[in-house]
Amino acid sequence: ANALRLGIAGLGTVGASVVNLLAKHGDAMARKAGRAVTISAVCARDPNRDRGIDLTGLSWFTDPVEMAKSDEIDVFVELIGGDNGPAENSVRAALAAGKHVVTANKALLAKHGVELAQIAEASKVSLNYEAAVAGGIPIVKTLRESMSGNDVSRVYGILNGTCNYILTRMEAEGISFEDCLADAQRLGYAEADPTFDIEGNDTAHKLAILTSLAFGTKISADDIYMEGITSITTADIQAADELGYRIKLLGVAQRTDTGIEQRVHPTMVPKSSAIARIDGVLNAVAVDGDFVGEVVLVGPGAGGNATASSVVADIADVARGDQTPVLGMPAADLDDYTRARMRLH
Ligand code: NDP
Ligand code: HSE
Repeated sequence: ANALRLGIAGLGTVGASVVNLLAKHGDAMARKAGRAVTISAVCARDPNRDRGIDLTGLSWFTDPVEMAKSDEIDVFVELIGGDNGPAENSVRAALAAGKHVVTANKALLAKHGVELAQIAEASKVSLNYEAAVAGGIPIVKTLRESMSGNDVSRVYGILNGTCNYILTRMEAEGISFEDCLADAQRLGYAEADPTFDIEGNDTAHKLAILTSLAFGTKISADDIYMEGITSITTADIQAADELGYRIKLLGVAQRTDTGIEQRVHPTMVPKSSAIARIDGVLNAVAVDGDFVGEVVLVGPGAGGNATASSVVADIADVARGDQTPVLGMPAADLDDYTRARMRLH
């Protein structure tokens, strides 16, 4: 087959790391996938900025919609961000033009995931999003593919690297919330608008995607009880410590007698528990399946290189011709009952 031609939209923290990863390991990845892969085009707002990556010979676009429709690409890699505007318009344009889409954009999927999955299915193209949940942790494929033989009763975890980084450093070093957040932004962990991290929205977006994959329901972030970490003080963390607990921002989705309960809030976890020891930018996701038991995945939840690892895995799936349904089953078969019960316990 001809080389699979990529168009990479967004050359920020994640996009630049994807270009770097492909320069270093792209050939080896393509050999494993059985098809050559090449970057044909890139897109960002400022073509003159030095991004520390080699873009020689690539077509440049400043309009992602134009690149999405271009004959020069087979796969549109969306690394812009946001649940509307350029990200949404370009992903829709790419799917309508019959291009495969790879995205790290959980906000977009939480809002439009089911509809985009339907469009992808109708266009017979892939829509892959491993990087959208827990950065470098392969939880999407784990739930959607590796655990598809199980009835899942619960999925929960630490799903936001920025919040875990802030809570960890506030506890270990007594640094202020604001200084920790500024460092997380400098390290490229935070969202363009960091209130999405610290108010819990980003965790809710990821949880909404996990809930759909775990329970076969339509994605719905609106039904999630949500509380972020903005009101947590160093004094709260110290008080928890004295009682033998750590404070973690958890996202939890579980089957109950009355429906699927989804919630995001700071939680006191016993210091002796495995989840209490997940520090810094690490995330952890636990899934309870009836045959396998509990599966726990731990790894970097944010950052350019870790996220690029997941983006490139999705590109490899396209190169292999993988045909797994976007949300684990045909979008039309997803359960309509998504009204999660908003109870804390
Ligand atoms: P950045 O803000 O670092 O990069 C965004 C890129 O998009 C920039 O290159 C910017 O161009 C480009 N861009 C923005 N608006 C436009 C537009 N209108 N037209 C063309 N290009 C545009 O974001 P990240 O790399 O951190 O995040 C990208 C996506 O990945 C988001 O969806 C995010 O939620 C997700 N994600 C991020 C992770 C992380 O650790 N950072 C982890 C997992 C997912 P320019 O450079 O010229 O300004
Ligand atoms: N801002 C997100 C986080 C990026 O901190 O987890 C990874 O999705």
